[in-house]
Amino acid sequence: MTGVDLEKFRLRRFVDQLKAIGEVDTHDRPVALADISAIIEGSPRASLFKDAGPEHFEMVGAVGGSRRRHAAAFGTSDERNLAQEFGRRMANPQPIVEVPQADAPVQQVVVAGNDVDLAKLPFHLQHAYDGAPYLSAAIDYAVDPKTGRRNVGCRRLMLRSRNTMLSNLTQVSDLKRMFLECVERGEHLHLNFAVGSHPLDFLAACVRAPVDDEFVTVASLRGAPLPLARGVSNGLPVPADAELVIEGYFDKAGYTEIEGPYGEFLGYYGPAHVDPVFHVTAITMRKDVLHQTVLHGAVKIARTEHAHQCAILTEARIRQVLGAAGIDPVAVYAVPSASGLLHARVSVRAPGQGRAVIAALFAIPFLKHVYVLDAEVDIFADEEVEWAMANRFRADRDLVTATGQMAFPMDVTMGEDRTTTKAGFDLTGLLSRSGVEARTTHAPRIDGAPRYQTVEQALSARPMAFSELMASLGSKDGREIAIELDRLRGEGVLTRSNDGEWMLK
Ligand SMILES: Cc1cc2nc3c(=O)[nH]c(=O)nc-3n(C[C@H](O)[C@H](O)[C@H](O)COP(=O)(O)O)c2cc1C
Repeated sequence: MTGVDLEKFRLRRFVDQLKAIGEVDTHDRPVALADISAIIEGSPRASLFKDAGPEHFEMVGAVGGSRRRHAAAFGTSDERNLAQEFGRRMANPQPIVEVPQADAPVQQVVVAGNDVDLAKLPFHLQHAYDGAPYLSAAIDYAVDPKTGRRNVGCRRLMLRSRNTMLSNLTQVSDLKRMFLECVERGEHLHLNFAVGSHPLDFLAACVRAPVDDEFVTVASLRGAPLPLARGVSNGLPVPADAELVIEGYFDKAGYTEIEGPYGEFLGYYGPAHVDPVFHVTAITMRKDVLHQTVLHGAVKIARTEHAHQCAILTEARIRQVLGAAGIDPVAVYAVPSASGLLHARVSVRAPGQGRAVIAALFAIPFLKHVYVLDAEVDIFADEEVEWAMANRFRADRDLVTATGQMAFPMDVTMGEDRTTTKAGFDLTGLLSRSGVEARTTHAPRIDGAPRYQTVEQALSARPMAFSELMASLGSKDGREIAIELDRLRGEGVLTRSNDGEWMLK
């Protein structure tokens, strides 16, 4: 009726797309909920469980746990330029469309009031020292009761009872501010969690730009209108095409109970702290609901969805900051194994830009280590960057540090004053060698049309490296050229330059 495709951004549809490109491990055998996280972390692909827990849940994990899968979410194969695609979509706001309950797939099944039983959902223990089983794939959709501003975020949910959960509202966030204002007014904060969402919705939930309407951010990143229905118990917005929705409210009693510890996205545990209780008033879902979990803390952080969401957002920020400084980078990469937040690699065209890039990027909060490389290094390839660190970096010359910098609150190396030291690695410095010794080694590329008939003709033009000789003569072999060079040597007309080029006397 609304003309909006309610299947296009459905999680199940996205999983089908991932299957088609070989990005999903499907587990048909029964899997205990306690084993889910280890299986997900054990694979570089997404994991689809057809028979999870005693209820035989169908459940998927790590759908956004790689750059390739995020590229698929954007509908592109260009994995390297996702920040540009993100920027393009953010600049093209999309509308919100209201969908009646009868048309909202997420409200096909309704469980409300006393029938609510959270223990029938696949909360699972995700990390060895978590405080309880969690549901990690929840996106909160809230409307500020005071201002009407619409807010979206991602929040973990800890199972507390059959109809209550705990969430973590300790870090600075819009939702925390809204909740504190409600508590001050003596009001509950009503809102709804979507569980089972497209990776672009998660990315939108993590955008922290000061926008008036974060529901529009979800629509914009989708590049399509966002269909919203009204919650069955509170009339508040829910994404009509989600897999499942949990409706309810954060208790006006405020911060009353211990939540956590929980395995955090830097790879250490966040501590147990006092948080609010969330009361569930209804659960709605699709008839063929696909449950979702996200991998959050892990040894292999690059397999978590958060690492890639953060990386795209950090890269967008870096491009903004460099643009303002008049620097046009060749490539920008926020390294996922450093949570997409702490390490950035930038490659530049012009020599000598290393220090300028480092100075500019030190201004980005929490970005701790900046690596600047020449354009010839592929900054997306760890082995090339390791090579560059070994061959292009001299600590006394190329290391830039800045002390007293704001540390990310979960950084386990931060000082008592909550600061850290940033480091810039300038790998663009001058080399102590020149000529052939300053050249990086590459396999030969011999192509193009021949320009000379004989070795002698070619070398009459100029001295040449052996590969240039081959290209000039159109030879894809080279052995015959070595023999011809021997003939010229015998005639006494051949010599070598200091760099080993072949030349005529
Ligand atoms: C999987 C996942 C779980 C998250 N859990 C929490 C959480 O429990 N508490 C929190 O404050 N932030 C959490 N975050 C980060 C917030 O979602 C993020 O900072 C968001 O931008 C906050 O939105 P808001 O400021 O609009 O409320 C989580 C992010 C992800 C991707």
